[in-house]
Amino acid sequence: MAESAPVITIDGPSGVGKGTVARLLAARLGWHLLDSGALYRLVALGARRRGLSLDDAAAVAAYARGLPAEFREAAGGGEVRVLLEGEDVTDAIRTETVGNDASRVAALPAVREALLDRQRDFRRPPGLVADGRDMGTTVFPDAPLKLFLTASADERARRRHKQLKEKGIDVSLPDLLSEIAERDRRDRQRAASPLVPAPDAVVIDTTALDIPGVMAEVERHVRRVFGPAAGGG
Ligand code: DC
Repeated sequence: MAESAPVITIDGPSGVGKGTVARLLAARLGWHLLDSGALYRLVALGARRRGLSLDDAAAVAAYARGLPAEFREAAGGGEVRVLLEGEDVTDAIRTETVGNDASRVAALPAVREALLDRQRDFRRPPGLVADGRDMGTTVFPDAPLKLFLTASADERARRRHKQLKEKGIDVSLPDLLSEIAERDRRDRQRAASPLVPAPDAVVIDTTALDIPGVMAEVERHVRRVFGPAAGGG
């Protein structure tokens, strides 16, 4: 039974490091990985390419329901490749423009509904690490371990800036900060599955932590919930 596979949900705002933490944790446990943000990004990119208006909820939701996308998991925790209609769009979905469009389509309840089963299909033995905004509240409300990562908007803008710079993309820090603030506002205030911690989520403030620091904290909770054998080193 798919439902019997355990799930660890990792939710939080943009730029908090969820993606990295989810990837490292899934690789270490040997579990599957769901990057749910990639699904919203794929819907945004595909809808644009088809010339759909992002305000046309019915059309975008219909597209999302049949989303012609595929995730190719690499063995041993390598990067997951993302295909849209057979084309590798792993990098194309990471731009700030697609991120902003994704935040818009993610505000449409019909689109969220259309992606529910697709996300739940990722729950397969031996387990799933699911990264997003509403993994613990809406998609996997029965997950035995729910983590919610936070960090100040300033710190998240700095992290994103560094990441983009490493890729050779030069964006101004103030612009990035205002974009992050705008996206946060939209993600938190939308009526459908807003970005809030589940009542039973563990909130980890990562503002003053590096990735190993966050991982140590995460592993501590994994051991607490799944026993010492799952905790790793
Ligand atoms: O995590 P990300 O930046 O790839 O997410 C892109 C957008 O999708 C972001 O603005 C919020 C939205 N999103 C969502 O609403 N629910 C999720 N489970 C994941 C992402």
